[in-house]
Amino acid sequence: MKIETELLVLTREHHSSLVLANKAINVARSKDEAKITSLSVQISQSFEASFAPHFKTEEAFIFRPLIASDADCQDTCLHLIQEHQALNRLAADLADHPEELLSFGELLKQHTRTEDRTLFSNIKYLSVSQRQQLAQASEQHKPLERFF
Ligand SMILES: [Fe+2]
Ligand SMILES: [Fe+2]
Repeated sequence: MKIETELLVLTREHHSSLVLANKAINVARSKDEAKITSLSVQISQSFEASFAPHFKTEEAFIFRPLIASDADCQDTCLHLIQEHQALNRLAADLADHPEELLSFGELLKQHTRTEDRTLFSNIKYLSVSQRQQLAQASEQHKPLERFF
């Protein structure tokens, strides 16, 4: 599928997001307590701040405009916003609850794949100026790779 220009940054960030999700899943399944604790602490300290620009851009420049548009994805958009909050909560709790690492990884993976599969195809419902705003906001993001 051709990726629209204004989605290139978010798509690249989804790659990093899936790398982190797979890492969390694999470390959780390894049963290596030292690795589980170390990754859990790292995620709890940096996830919310690292992903905040990505989540804010998606919410402000894709989900909210789509909810107000004719696109038939209102429920999906609302659900994806709730998942941002759930991911931030899960991440913040990981320092005290490293046993949640698998749940965190699975939710992040499923969330990212849902966006890649179903949401980006609705980008056509955004106006030209909305798409420009999306591109401009995305270009301000710092690289996620720096954190993971
Ligand atoms: Fe998202
Ligand atoms: Fe995303």
